[in-house]
Amino acid sequence: MLDSHYFHYSDKSLNCDNVSLQELGSRFGTPLYVTSTKSLVESYHAFETAFSKLPHFTCYSVKANFNLSVIRTFADLGCGCDVNSGGELYRALQAGVAPDKIIFAGVGKKKEEIAYSLGAGVLMLKAESIPELQTIDRVAGELGKIADVALRINPNVTAETHPYITTGDSKEKFGIDEAELQEVFTLLGQLPNLRLVGLDMHIGSQIFDPEYYVAATVKLLALLKVSKTMGFAIQFLDIGGGFPVTYDPAKPATPIERFADKLVPMLLPSGVTVIFEPGRYLVASASVLLTKVLYKKRNHAGKEFFVVDAGMTELIRPALYQSHHEVQAVTRNGETIVADVVGPICESSDFFARQREIDAVDEGELLAVMSCGAYASVMSSNYNGRLRPAEVMVNGSEVTLVRKRETLEQLVQNELF
Ligand code: LLP
Repeated sequence: MLDSHYFHYSDKSLNCDNVSLQELGSRFGTPLYVTSTKSLVESYHAFETAFSKLPHFTCYSVKANFNLSVIRTFADLGCGCDVNSGGELYRALQAGVAPDKIIFAGVGKKKEEIAYSLGAGVLMLKAESIPELQTIDRVAGELGKIADVALRINPNVTAETHPYITTGDSKEKFGIDEAELQEVFTLLGQLPNLRLVGLDMHIGSQIFDPEYYVAATVKLLALLKVSKTMGFAIQFLDIGGGFPVTYDPAKPATPIERFADKLVPMLLPSGVTVIFEPGRYLVASASVLLTKVLYKKRNHAGKEFFVVDAGMTELIRPALYQSHHEVQAVTRNGETIVADVVGPICESSDFFARQREIDAVDEGELLAVMSCGAYASVMSSNYNGRLRPAEVMVNGSEVTLVRKRETLEQLVQNELF
């Protein structure tokens, strides 16, 4: 069971901060994402405190949860943003983030997106290949601008995590190969509309062992030296995101301080500003997905299923990464049962839990799928004609609807006969 400060049982019912989840389910319907504002703020402060000794700038990676109100919560605390597309850039700007606090990443930026980000005045673009550098140079030239760029390096460090979310390995599409860097540095001297201001990496997501960061940072620091001797005025070293959270109480995440203990002494002497791009760490534990049990069924072998009204369309992580999410009753009755918790989608991978001991709730009662703040709503889809859920934020006793439930009309509004 995941019981936090902000999602806690009082007597037998689960609350978000001062508000009962049962009440939220009745008021807004299900499925419903519920986010605790205080949990977001607390995670940000924990991150900032851990790295306080290091001159740094934290850019929330909005891909984890791009709800405007979530982005604004971090922006109000002074946090910047890491965006991965023109769409995310638009969202960050709409949320009120200052353009010079936004960094623009992505392995396949289109010319239009490059032009959009240069026009908006982002802090820098992170480039991942020679052809991309050439394109950024050309677009900047056309706009009469000098583009500040960072080079995303592929440090060839294979961090242990799910294979779909490891990104620092040279087998993957991300970043510029170390072997290519000499050529890149030479080329930069010939691209008049680019200014190299940073070196960047992102080795993956949900990484438990700080040693992977250490290995990749050693490489980044060596490159910093090389680039300095070549006359580049590097201002930023971007370490990326990837810091872990606890999904399964049996597998607690490494505390953020352990990462800081290793990284701060390494990075401090570099004299440059360090950028971090945490996504999951800041948001994962701040939300739950509320869902209603529609049917309880039992098969010939005695296997129990709870069919709920949310599915892989609202949380694809179990299907895609075999990831664990705790599933807890909103109102407990003290009894448990071993069951599969499955959604209504016509795919066998549509499940939240398999053969798990869970609270024995009845049909019509609510379950909370925990740790749904990161990569849940943002990865939702209309598959099977599903409507994206509403989203609410809770701050103390205050409840704010921050995204309306999609309607049937919206489902077809872009289609033409
Ligand atoms: N920076 C870059 C360049 C990234 O690609 C990512 C995540 C981050 C920062 C933030 O990483 P985080 O701190 O959240 O680990 N959908 C997957 C995770 C994909 C991560 C993609 N990149 C999941 O649900 O586990």
